[in-house]
Amino acid sequence: MAHTAHAHAGHHVMVHAPPADVGEAYRQAYKQAEPDPGGAVVSVELEAREADWQFMPGRTARAWTFNGQVPGPVIEARVGDVLEVRLTNRLSEPTTLHWHGVRLPAAMDGTDMVQHPVEPGATFVYRIKLLDAGTFWYHSHSNETVQVKRGMYGALIVRGENEPVLDRERVLVVSDAPVGPTGELWSSSAREGRDGNLRLVNGAAEPELMIRGGQVERWRVINASSARYVKLSIGRRPFLVLGTGGGLLEAPVRLGDALLPPGDRIDIAVGPFEPGDTVALLSEPYDRGFGSAEAERFATLRVGPRADSRAVIAERLRIIAPLVDGPVTASREVRLGERAGADGEVDYLINETQHLRAEDVVVGEVQIWDIVNTSTVDHPFHLHGFFFQVVERDGTAPAFRSWEDTVNVPAGGRVCIAWVPDDRPGEWMYHCHILEHHAAGMMAHFRVVRAGSHREPSQVSPHVQV
Ligand code: C2O
Ligand code: CU
Repeated sequence: MAHTAHAHAGHHVMVHAPPADVGEAYRQAYKQAEPDPGGAVVSVELEAREADWQFMPGRTARAWTFNGQVPGPVIEARVGDVLEVRLTNRLSEPTTLHWHGVRLPAAMDGTDMVQHPVEPGATFVYRIKLLDAGTFWYHSHSNETVQVKRGMYGALIVRGENEPVLDRERVLVVSDAPVGPTGELWSSSAREGRDGNLRLVNGAAEPELMIRGGQVERWRVINASSARYVKLSIGRRPFLVLGTGGGLLEAPVRLGDALLPPGDRIDIAVGPFEPGDTVALLSEPYDRGFGSAEAERFATLRVGPRADSRAVIAERLRIIAPLVDGPVTASREVRLGERAGADGEVDYLINETQHLRAEDVVVGEVQIWDIVNTSTVDHPFHLHGFFFQVVERDGTAPAFRSWEDTVNVPAGGRVCIAWVPDDRPGEWMYHCHILEHHAAGMMAHFRVVRAGSHREPSQVSPHVQV
């Protein structure tokens, strides 16, 4: 078992381990994943392997990749399809794959609580019925501060029936990487999470993109950074938000910029621009507790000759029924905190604990969670496997309703969310999506259980100390 051990916060070496019935849960989930009539099985082969990755002309770094590329291939499918991914591990250490944002059975969630890690040389098949349209992503869920930072992430796009029709659609995976002068990817173990020196769009450092004059494009933007906040600006001109992490909004919303913390996605309509224009894709200054003094460029958009536009954006994109109405009482308080660790580094905590075993939730019971950030830095809160609605931010209802799986909780702030566990029992988790914070303990395991099978919260920590 030594290979699954990893150090948590320097106190003990612990092992996360799946329960004994993990094989049976997997076989059931595999069998149940059948496409809708008219749907397809989308088969994808992903090979986790080291490769030379060219991040700008003439410069490469040794990356950990899917299929030799950073990011991994864009996976595209439709609602009602089944995604079947055959993951082969050619790395020197175990790995797993998490399908960030996707509503799937616990057995396919890719955490070390629902499957045994995929050992070097081994193959594992994820088989997932796709229920929702949206901009999702996949990433390693093992030793993430190494594996994800070195390149193990990619986009998953699921399309629905009534998608807005724009002139062109692009997927922009924004990220950063710490690349040294000789192309080495240094790994910082700094627990607060460091921003990499290279700013990447689809694996290229500050690339140039081309758009036709007069056209309006749909951009699906994913922040795959380990710690970097992106306050997205398209040349400081307004854009239309079409959707967020959990798919389309009810109606487009015009914004000047949008904060995208690690793990989050946004779907926007960009343009039209005048031929000959140059538009900088920026991250505006944002202080997540460590500060960012200047706007930073991610890419440059050059506007080419004018072309006809056939873009139509409906005023109504869909209906999102509110989960709660009127004043609510929280059923759970999730406190995001920090303390000085025994080794002089910061420990990141949920409810004063590293790697919390939180209470079960019961299928069908509305969850109202108050997420309180008592620390001095922002934390992007991520819930696995289920969408939530933001009910309030610091006591104020949000300007528009959306489905989310990741929400920023500012330093000293409070975000109230609502969600309903549908019938997908098993082991789930929530955590900060700054990968170093997650690794340093800011995460909780919990179970979704069926009514009647409700058990007392497990006294047994899922972490076996060795
Ligand atoms: Cu994208 Cu457990 O995370
Ligand atoms: Cu955090």
